[in-house]
Order: sequence, then C-alpha cells, then structure tokens
Amino acid sequence: MSINIAIFASGNGSNAENIINFFKDNNNVEIKIILTNNEYAYVIERAKRLNIPCFIFNKTELKNSNIVLNKLKEYDIDFIVLAGFLLKIPENILNVFPKKIINIHPALLPKYGGKGMYGKKVHDAVIASGDEYSGITIHYVNKNYDEGDIIFQKKCEVKNNDTPETLAKRVHSLEYNFFPKVIKKVLYENF
Ligand code: GRF
Repeated sequence: MSINIAIFASGNGSNAENIINFFKDNNNVEIKIILTNNEYAYVIERAKRLNIPCFIFNKTELKNSNIVLNKLKEYDIDFIVLAGFLLKIPENILNVFPKKIINIHPALLPKYGGKGMYGKKVHDAVIASGDEYSGITIHYVNKNYDEGDIIFQKKCEVKNNDTPETLAKRVHSLEYNFFPKVIKKVLYENF
C-alpha cells in the first residue's frame, strides 16, 4: 500500500516536478494528482509531460463547494503538499486532512509571511530589511496563511549585491534540495 499524495501548485511548478522525480522510484509514496487554481499555470504542462493527472478548479469552487475535496477523495489522497499554491485551504479540506497538509515558504517564517507575501515580494522585503539571512520554511497548514507549526527551516546568506532574482535562485536551490527529503521524513513518521 502506498501513501497517496496530491500536490497543489498555482504557477511554475518546479518544486512539484522535483518532488515527483524524487519519489518516482519509491514504492511507498505515489504522487497521484496535481491540482491548480490557475488554468495558465506552467505546472499543467509539467503534469502532462510527467504523466500525472491534473485537475483545474477556480477559487469559488475551492471556497464554496466540495469539488476539490471530492477530487481528493476520488484519488484516495492521504497527504497534501502545497508547492507554490497561492490560495487559502478552506476548512472543509483542513478538517479532513488534519496535520496532513504542508507548505513551503521561501523565507524564514514568522518573518515575511502572510497574505500577499509570495514570490518576488518576499525576496524584495528580505533585501529591503537588510537581514543577513533568508531561507526556507516548511510548515503544516492551518486556516491562516503561513502560520501552522514549523517542521523545518534552512538558512542561506543574503549577499550585499543580491537582487530578488539572485536571492530567489539561492532559496530555490534549498527548496529543491530539502523539500522532498522533509516530505519523506514527515510521511515516514506519520504513516
Ligand atoms: C517557491 O519559492 C515556494 O517556496 C513558494 O512558491 C514558489 C514556487 O516555485 N511557495 P515553483 O512554482 O515550484 O517553481
């Protein structure tokens, strides 16, 4: 019996692809489906190429219906990974997946999190602050943006001449390196 994973992503999906590749030969973990709220998201192309089913929904369907929850049930999902997903997970899903949804944030929470803090805006804020370090935070998801219990953090340097792009690149490489490993650890501890 494998642990069935759903990945939610709103954009590019490079983390989603990295996670899929990481678990490709693992018999205990199966990435069953990608879900996105953005019909133009590049993650949809990746899903096609990787032969993973992809489900597209809109914000209202997520917030005010059981359409997404039913999709998760249809695929017998045990655990959810948010990888660049920009909407809040509603209570109907949180209730069915308590401590079974995790997210990655491209900074060291509790700093630089919350509504609207995603992508370049996060790296802009970090650079403007003059902080010496940024990094990644992997955390459980609850009903508030970026506030669930922290599972893992890893720091990287913020350099004097960093632009949001150069810092994003450094943070992304931490994500690629650590996110799949942390997912695996959480899964093996919980299932
Ligand atoms: C990542 O930086 C992640 O931390 C954040 O959104 C970004 C997604 O990048 N939550 P990608 O779509 O995986 O390339």
